[in-house]
Amino acid sequence: MEFAELVKQRYSVRGYQSTPVEEEKLNQVLEAARLAPTAVNRQPFQLIVVHTEGREADMQRIYHREWFLSAPLVICACAVRAEGWTRADGKDYTDVDVAIVVDHLTLAAADLGLGTCWVGSFDRDAVIDVLKLPAEAEPLVILPIGYAADPPRPKERKPLAELVRYKHW
Ligand SMILES: Cc1cc2nc3c(=O)[nH]c(=O)nc-3n(C[C@H](O)[C@H](O)[C@H](O)COP(=O)(O)O)c2cc1C
Repeated sequence: MEFAELVKQRYSVRGYQSTPVEEEKLNQVLEAARLAPTAVNRQPFQLIVVHTEGREADMQRIYHREWFLSAPLVICACAVRAEGWTRADGKDYTDVDVAIVVDHLTLAAADLGLGTCWVGSFDRDAVIDVLKLPAEAEPLVILPIGYAADPPRPKERKPLAELVRYKHW
């Protein structure tokens, strides 16, 4: 899909068909994540792929929404802060890196006709327990993936004039 069209078409899908995601498509989406840029190319992240069939109780512990259960696939994007880059003034860029990785996942999925939804308001302790995360991994985003059952909505965004300044603040 042409890029301008792709960014218009991606939306947060909060309801999925039961159709499984083809392994080839999953691998293409993961490859797009692998190619994401990261600060100093540190690649300080881990992705945990979960096929949700039979794990409904675990998924409900992670994010207690009815629609979330419909996703056949969930990816948990974790920051591995010790591997990330920190600027001289102490600013840690690991979260930025993980956000770029997740954006690649969402756009690659949309390009393949798949829906996703960033989920940040998950139960952190439940994720750590269910996915057996070690202390060095911090879950940042949970991303359900699947074929959309939820129709697109019009984009509500501020106009560029409210978001962009030229020459100075
Ligand atoms: C960092 C982040 C966290 C988010 N967390 C949630 C969430 O916990 N639950 C949810 O339903 N949507 C979540 N969203 C989705 C946003 O609500 C959504 O992207 C925004 O309203 C714009 O809508 P669109 O994605 O359909 O364009 C999150 C998005 C981002 C970028």
